[in-house]
Amino acid sequence: MTDSATSTPVLETKDLVAGYLPGVNILNGCSIVANQGDLIGIIGPNGAGKSTLLKAVFGQVNVRGGEILLHGEEISGLKADKLVTKGVGMVPQNNNVFPSLTIEENLEMGVFQDPRSFKERFEFVAGLFPELVSRRRQRAGSLSGGERQMVAMGRALMMDPSVLLLDEPSAGLSPVRQDETFLRVAEINSHGVTIVMVEQNARRCLQISHRAYVLDQGKDAYTGTGREMLNDPKVIQLYLGTLATDVEEKAKTASQATVEPRQAE
Ligand SMILES: Nc1ncnc2c1ncn2[C@@H]1O[C@H](COP(=O)(O)OP(=O)(O)OP(=O)(O)O)[C@@H](O)[C@H]1O
Ligand SMILES: [Mg+2]
Repeated sequence: MTDSATSTPVLETKDLVAGYLPGVNILNGCSIVANQGDLIGIIGPNGAGKSTLLKAVFGQVNVRGGEILLHGEEISGLKADKLVTKGVGMVPQNNNVFPSLTIEENLEMGVFQDPRSFKERFEFVAGLFPELVSRRRQRAGSLSGGERQMVAMGRALMMDPSVLLLDEPSAGLSPVRQDETFLRVAEINSHGVTIVMVEQNARRCLQISHRAYVLDQGKDAYTGTGREMLNDPKVIQLYLGTLATDVEEKAKTASQATVEPRQAE
């Protein structure tokens, strides 16, 4: 993280309002800031609008109000291919590789707007994900979930993005693979790539995030450093859940129920 309090953020959304169906807004005034070198975590309940936020930034959802600024320039309304050339990389939550293409072809697709840079960018991606190199001729559809995630991130990195949007990179992976994915994300960030990462695995996400936002009903409900959020009782109670407390509470309720029978609801 850099001292960027006075410099223009890489990515900023201001009071963003967006939705899919007429008259139904999913984002209801969502504001986030990602400064140069930041790793920003976005957590929140299912359906809060986390994926919608990333999709809106990436030109895939109608923006109805507010602003999206990339290095201070308004980008809302631009289409994904244009955004890619401007330095926005996106790894969607689902269907993020071309399964019938090989690993290498997937990476070529990442750089199709600037094929001459393939060799140089491939070397960068290969440095991050060396295991992909020996299997570069393997079809992406035959890879494990974790390996696919690497291909998807590699593809997005081929255009040398200044900001990388990641939608649930650890979803569906085993705990060991999840840890590995978070380490890779932190490593990509250490190369200076600003990252905005949506995650279901809130605890791990906060552990590696410089700053984070809780999204609730399409609005940024809380923000703070990853560490602050991990220790914030409100965030813990509402969004992180504490299994130990839950179990204690349930046990207490159960023992009370035997003494005072529950009234009919
Ligand atoms: N293509 C679509 N058309 C209409 N509504 C949609 C569409 N995609 C998402 N929505 C709605 O937008 C709301 C927010 O969805 P979104 O996918 O952004 O949530 P999320 O926070 O990413 O949830 P999750 O944690 O389950 O991934 C949901 O109510 C969802 O039904
Ligand atoms: Mg989502």
